[in-house]
Amino acid sequence: MIRIAAVGDVHVDKDVLGRYRPALEQLPGVADALLIAGDLTRHGTVEEAKCMAIEFGELGVPVVVVLGNHDHQSDQQDALSDVLRDAGMTVLEGDATVLEINGHRLGIAGAKGFGGGFAGACASSFGEREMKNFVGTTEAIAERLGAALRGLDCDALVALTHYAPVPETLVGEPLEIYPFLGSYLLGQAIDSAPTALALHGHAHHGSERGRTPGGVPVRNVAHPVIKQAYNVYQLLSEDVDAGLATV
Ligand SMILES: [Fe+2]
Repeated sequence: MIRIAAVGDVHVDKDVLGRYRPALEQLPGVADALLIAGDLTRHGTVEEAKCMAIEFGELGVPVVVVLGNHDHQSDQQDALSDVLRDAGMTVLEGDATVLEINGHRLGIAGAKGFGGGFAGACASSFGEREMKNFVGTTEAIAERLGAALRGLDCDALVALTHYAPVPETLVGEPLEIYPFLGSYLLGQAIDSAPTALALHGHAHHGSERGRTPGGVPVRNVAHPVIKQAYNVYQLLSEDVDAGLATV
């Protein structure tokens, strides 16, 4: 069995220091790894990244993250990522990592993702160059995520994004902003590999549970949605449905 703790949208700055830490100190007893689905900071500054490194550093379990849109706000995403890596975290963007856990290989492919919308109400690559760039950005990210997932050789495969791959986990958000919250292309990437679980954040007013068209369980772990420091999901347990319940 593999126990994955997950949260997103923790938006750490100096005012948040200490808020997550008491629950994080419990992690080694309840989970084998922590995955964070982007929006680690408020405005994407190096200073905030240092706060993030303090709050989520040295937890005693591996920490794997993707960045979110907030982490790009100050155009310091590369320096921000360096701070997190220096603190021992794995930062994914269109690539993957494998963790050895309890004799199993847990593969995690991650990317921030981007918007575009969902079936029947999505942006298309047509017309102005700006629109083609918008859609093309999502297409490129989804392509890299899919390739990273398909390239993994492991016992359990998890996709980690900030933007949503399905609309079900956006329920609660205004319909009008769905195209800025995620893209079906991410869902297609997730379905292109034997993914066991897809985790995302970004939709603070969304819902926790959804499923891709291919049947992969999707969980929106944005902190305002799960309302706790992290949820824990079990993979490779005997009862898969029970395993994906929050423990
Ligand atoms: Fe976000």
